[in-house]
Amino acid sequence: MKILRVICSPRGTSSESYRLSQTLINQLIDRHPGSDFMITERGVTGLAHIDADYAEAVSKRRDPTRPVAAKGALLQSEQLIRELENADCVVIATPMHNLMVPSALKAWLDHVVQADRTFRITAEGKVGTLRDRPVFIAIASGGTFTGVNAQQPDFLRPWLQAVLAGIGLLDVRFFSVEGTGQKPEVVDGIRAKTERETALYFAGHVPTPA
Ligand SMILES: Cc1cc2nc3c(=O)[nH]c(=O)nc-3n(C[C@H](O)[C@H](O)[C@H](O)COP(=O)(O)O)c2cc1C
Repeated sequence: MKILRVICSPRGTSSESYRLSQTLINQLIDRHPGSDFMITERGVTGLAHIDADYAEAVSKRRDPTRPVAAKGALLQSEQLIRELENADCVVIATPMHNLMVPSALKAWLDHVVQADRTFRITAEGKVGTLRDRPVFIAIASGGTFTGVNAQQPDFLRPWLQAVLAGIGLLDVRFFSVEGTGQKPEVVDGIRAKTERETALYFAGHVPTPA
């Protein structure tokens, strides 16, 4: 199984979201005894934003007789899309930043959500072109955003789910470690609770990539 892990925290592999993503990957490995796993680590915090050539290339204003050179953000975009296409399963490790995804994850999405490549615009609306596959999202947040004790609105999950659905990724499952801003002993308890919930989920669902 080829797993693409998208790492979105400025704290990289020391981050809470990376730690949770590793719990998810360990569960995947445990549930598929005898399978080979290849993990591609894609850090996105250093990713350049899309540039003028990219915006021009995907614009309907563009002269279709004038080919666009695959360079800069367009080239980067193609590499990132191929990485995504190649994966059987995607794990996104992300913190919540200002009630949303961090700008690094937004930048990655701006690269992989590309008109006439990962979605088409039809009379009925946008249609995703990627083969669906399991996507696991590991979120870390300083406060809580789910359940009756939510301290803040959650724009992260509905937005991310809608954007991924737009390119054909519908099999999306969210996990979260919430309240990392608390004292270390409290955070230990929160991590343990998240790990129990994760194990329970995987005990009942063994992902089978298409
Ligand atoms: C710029 C910034 C914005 C943040 N915004 C939020 C927020 O809106 N809600 C929240 O609960 N925590 C927020 N936090 C706290 C992080 O979500 C929290 O520290 C999380 O555990 C970081 O995860 P990481 O270790 O994976 O980066 C923010 C942190 C930073 C640096």
